[in-house]
Amino acid sequence: MTTNKKSAVFISTAFWLLCVPSAFAQQSASPTFAEHVAPIIYDNCVECHRPGSIAPMSLIDYEIVRVWSSVIKDRVQRRTMPPYFIDKTVGVQSFEDDRSLTDAEIATIAAWADAGSPRGDISHMPPVPVYADAVAWTLEKDIGRPPDLIIPIPDPFTVPAGGPNWWMTFYSDTGLTEDRWIQAFETKPSAEGYPVVHHAVTSMEFPEGGGGFLSEYALGKTADINPPGTGQLIKAGTRVNWNIHYAASPDGLDRTDRTRLGLWLLPQGEEPKHKLIRSHMGDNEDLDLPGGETNIRTDGYEFLDKNIRITAFQPHLHNLGTRQCMEVIYQDNRRQTLSCADWDFGWHIAYNYKEDVQPLIPKGSMIHITSWFDNSPSNPWAGDSRNWVGFGQRSTDDMSFSWISYYELTDEEYAASVAERQAQIAAGSD
Ligand code: HEC
Repeated sequence: MTTNKKSAVFISTAFWLLCVPSAFAQQSASPTFAEHVAPIIYDNCVECHRPGSIAPMSLIDYEIVRVWSSVIKDRVQRRTMPPYFIDKTVGVQSFEDDRSLTDAEIATIAAWADAGSPRGDISHMPPVPVYADAVAWTLEKDIGRPPDLIIPIPDPFTVPAGGPNWWMTFYSDTGLTEDRWIQAFETKPSAEGYPVVHHAVTSMEFPEGGGGFLSEYALGKTADINPPGTGQLIKAGTRVNWNIHYAASPDGLDRTDRTRLGLWLLPQGEEPKHKLIRSHMGDNEDLDLPGGETNIRTDGYEFLDKNIRITAFQPHLHNLGTRQCMEVIYQDNRRQTLSCADWDFGWHIAYNYKEDVQPLIPKGSMIHITSWFDNSPSNPWAGDSRNWVGFGQRSTDDMSFSWISYYELTDEEYAASVAERQAQIAAGSD
């Protein structure tokens, strides 16, 4: 059987070579899976698209990728996969852990799909990447190691099919025996629990009281990074307080979750210069989202009484959100767009700015958050779009604010940072 198949391939190849040389030349010029497409997919997709992980299908084997090729072409061209929705035409453009494809990679995938998704010479296939865990830690590749501390919720929690919304509180001991500073962190539901964990808010409780907010995970959330020179203190004996919103799985199955918090720590004894803060900005709770409307806009404002350096922007909307922008309005009324990102409720993505482009904002400025919503049948996340929707905690209610990560700068630090940035721009390294 195998021999027959092989000789069939040989005969058809020979046929091409002998009879249709120009068509063959054209064929060999188009990208192939083995040489051109697999490297892109293995690098950018199989972290999630592999057996047992969070995506609906594995994209490791040629035969499966071939079947999906036109859907893949469509999703990568619309930039809805990989999930990273920052607007590439406006605002700051340079991010840590930017998982979007380049224009050239998108063109390669499209040309391959258009050419009939040829396999190519299998001996050129890159090795299949190996992951230690069903759910990959976003930063494991960048930082070069898995988290230093992994803290699960105390027990697995089962969300029954068709059940109600649950808001659970759990506590987990960290087991830390010394004070340390946090460099980065990420919250990950288990692969099975992925569809039922709508949010997981973690905060620290220090043994002598105090502590504070750590992170909000919501569907599809990436990692939070404290850039060099910044960090958050976690004390010996800290326990983690979890507030988790579970909602029944859309696939109608019981799902058991064991969410984990992964912490990367600064080396022992290293203290950062600045304390990183993550907070809401531009909240607007006066939401009025009439049924059937496609383009509803809300605005929220935050007055800054300190100089700040913004390190990350993470839109926060619910099912009906479609897009959010952050701009700064300076005291002299000049306005500058910092970032815009499209929104899909399945993906709560923190856009971590690269250090040399982190926005420097003087005190007295206003952060202005603009959000857009679609409460019509054209939004796949809309429920019954005849209904009005307002502000609320359930995913079917809506919200409008940004999570902004930043640290404060004294006037001297602000002036020094601006001078450094101007020198960088003058040197052409902007
Ligand atoms: C961070 C995880 C992740 C990464 C990285 C990722 N995907 Fe996905 N992908 C998902 C999940 C989860 C879904 C289902 C939910 C959705 O559509 O948003 C999905 C859906 C899809 C779909 C639609 C499937 C359908 O049923 O219509 C396609 C096509 C796809 N991905 C292709 C890709 C390609 C190609 C890449 C890389 C270039 C990629 N994805 C990268 C997680 C990921």
